[in-house]
Amino acid sequence: MSALLTLDGLGVRFEGAEPRTLVHDVSFDLGEGERLGIIGESGSGKSLTALAILGLLAHPLRARGRAVLSASGGDVDVVTASQRRLDRVRGSAVGAVFQEPLASLDPLMRIGKQLAWPFAHHRGLRGDALRRAVLDALADVQLPHPERIARAYIHEISGGQRQRVAIALALAAGPRLLIADEPTTALDVTVQAGVLALLQREVEERGMSLIFISHDLPVVAGITDRVLVMRDGRQVELAGTTTLLTAPAADYTRTLVSASRELEAFLPDRGEGARR
Ligand SMILES: Nc1ncnc2c1ncn2[C@@H]1O[C@H](COP(=O)(O)OP(=O)(O)O)[C@@H](O)[C@H]1O
Ligand SMILES: [Mg+2]
Repeated sequence: MSALLTLDGLGVRFEGAEPRTLVHDVSFDLGEGERLGIIGESGSGKSLTALAILGLLAHPLRARGRAVLSASGGDVDVVTASQRRLDRVRGSAVGAVFQEPLASLDPLMRIGKQLAWPFAHHRGLRGDALRRAVLDALADVQLPHPERIARAYIHEISGGQRQRVAIALALAAGPRLLIADEPTTALDVTVQAGVLALLQREVEERGMSLIFISHDLPVVAGITDRVLVMRDGRQVELAGTTTLLTAPAADYTRTLVSASRELEAFLPDRGEGARR
């Protein structure tokens, strides 16, 4: 399995008043088609790690170390790459879905037009082919009445539907890696499972690599091959999902695993992943 992404001592510094390191030395390889989970409590540095990999940190935050992405035009170290190079890599090589769907959607632009952009920009589609691709993409994420959704604005659809649009947008340029940062956390409980199943299906069908970030261990375990545990901005443990659940090496991981086991006793239908 060749590495699609290699993190080598990736860190994030806050360089405003009272400079400090928020993420320390995260290192891992992600293979083609591999699905990695990142788990940790709120504030442990999961989102900053994701933003660093996407080259989306802005002053006063700054990445250090290396995050090398193998892209069609050659390897790109997103920590040092130019804005122009990053613009090309984002979307085409890496797609992202965030906790809040509005983070990637424009409230003032019709959904169809937003979705048309990556198809036109990265895939060169025009006219009827472009229109077809947009409607197919909306149907693919199981949105009802794609024509109607394409003409709608984001405030006219539900939160679960918005996240489906955000997923369609992240997938439009055919990225080889999808980064999903708490993609169901902000959604109504009733639609979380559907959006999770959609993500899982898309990743499988497209053979994409996945970085799936969550504070919810059973959810992470159900969708990933390996799990990285973070705490206080540090990498605590990195292990195969089954190993992590059955023989956690770090005390902190043991606490996480037993906490979610205890939770399962109260919520019997939540245990899917943990039993895998
Ligand atoms: N823009 C920022 N400026 C200063 N500190 C930040 C900023 N964003 C995040 N942090 C801090 O960095 C730490 C990690 O944040 P984050 O990666 O968002 O955590 P997680 O996603 O695991 O909940 C937290 O302590 C948070 O307060
Ligand atoms: Mg976060």
